[in-house]
Amino acid sequence: MYSNSLLAIVIGSLSTTAQGHAIETRINNGLGRTPALGWNSWNAFGCSDASASAALIAANQFVNLGLKDLGYQYVNIDDCWHTMSRSSSGQLVPDPKKWPNGIAAVVNQIHGMGLKFGLYGDAGTKTCAGYPGSQGHETQDAQLLSSWGVDYWKYDNCYTPCNGAVPQTCWSPRDTKSWYTLFGNALKNVQHPMLFSLCSWGLDNVWAWGDSVGNSWRTTGDIANNWASVASIAAKGATISQYSVPGGFNDWDMMEIGNGGLTEAEERAHFGLWAIGKSPIILGTNLAKIKASSLAIIKNAGILKINQDSLGKAATYFVPSGQSQPVSGQLYPFWAGPLSDGVVVGIVAASGAKTFSVNFKDVPGLGSGTYTWQEMYSGKTGTGTSVSVSLSNHDMAVYKITPAGTTTPTPVTSSVPSTTSSAGGGGQGTVAKYGQCGGLGYSHSVFCQNVPKYCCFVVTGAPSCICPRSSLRPMRRYWLLWSKDLRIWSLLCCDQ
Ligand code: GLA
Repeated sequence: MYSNSLLAIVIGSLSTTAQGHAIETRINNGLGRTPALGWNSWNAFGCSDASASAALIAANQFVNLGLKDLGYQYVNIDDCWHTMSRSSSGQLVPDPKKWPNGIAAVVNQIHGMGLKFGLYGDAGTKTCAGYPGSQGHETQDAQLLSSWGVDYWKYDNCYTPCNGAVPQTCWSPRDTKSWYTLFGNALKNVQHPMLFSLCSWGLDNVWAWGDSVGNSWRTTGDIANNWASVASIAAKGATISQYSVPGGFNDWDMMEIGNGGLTEAEERAHFGLWAIGKSPIILGTNLAKIKASSLAIIKNAGILKINQDSLGKAATYFVPSGQSQPVSGQLYPFWAGPLSDGVVVGIVAASGAKTFSVNFKDVPGLGSGTYTWQEMYSGKTGTGTSVSVSLSNHDMAVYKITPAGTTTPTPVTSSVPSTTSSAGGGGQGTVAKYGQCGGLGYSHSVFCQNVPKYCCFVVTGAPSCICPRSSLRPMRRYWLLWSKDLRIWSLLCCDQ
């Protein structure tokens, strides 16, 4: 047990309000004080390569490509690293074909390179791809991971209890906090510290309690390899920015940079938004094949520094004078957030190429006065009372702004609309917002309004996908899961 955690537990159990409700204390394992930087196998390889060689190739690429020197640290293997059943003593078993020397040998090698190693598990009876989950084995699994030296544990949400059954995904009623707390407590009692990453898909307002249980929490269903998905996750992030703090961050999901579904401009915006939103940046592409333009983006030192700023405060929307208000569920161009040594301003051409101007007096945290600025993608610098930039469709500019003289700071306020669209739900028919389109649990056709996209749908047991512009492509990543359960993942739309 690490002593900080022990202290947190003791303080937590002693602290009660007059009504006798326990005051929740932040998980205090000393990890994740800035958002995690790393790589994960899932977006690159899915179930096909959750292996020692995939981990070691990624680790070597961290060193060879200079990513390690920039702070990328975690090499994480996602679903499908195990065998389909536990051992006779109830232990999780690494697939010997994928891990010929076991997990600990790989962890040691990766530690020897000055990097860290992460694994994936699930709170239910099975992982999302059907491998053994940790339900009923929390303590045993936490101890095994610790004995291997695992540094990061992503904990998924499939096959958890629901209405007396264990469907692949339960929407209601559910108590995600209870099963995340169970494993979080098990981790507090093992020797090797592990960053605890809750893969809870934004359910049950996880941002409101996640930091008492883990170090980061997913804010939405799975990212897809297209702009609409990136934009919708970022729009969600703007509404919950205040919950990110050192030690506990909103996790906007793993990156799709390098996977071919985004233009170069969109890759810049994906990276810039995740960075200023203080999301973990977990790369999700095959680093052995990454193209030069994508590599340049993920190696942007100025933007990584903003993401890793010690203040740990996430940027959110602000409304410059004369601009329209943000629309719930839609990506808005203007973002700002405080840094320990200045302010970050992000501008994203969310709805087409445009020239944008921002007066610094409109920016929360700045005021009337002269500032020095630097744009992190172009490297341009300047001094003045405003900036102006012409951006191509979906491109982004990221400014770091510091005082150049006496200033009158503007109070930091948020202009985020109070209503948000949420992913998920169930049933049949029409949903009004793109953010609600798809999601697990729809059992009939679902049609999304207000967006130029259409959702695919499947019917229980039959992998039929109805897409107005044809193509079964968007469903391909989940074909393994079709046979037993209905599974429609959020943002699986047919516009690729
Ligand atoms: C869920 C998670 C993904 C990935 C897959 C693996 O969909 O949200 O990030 O881990 O499971 O099956």
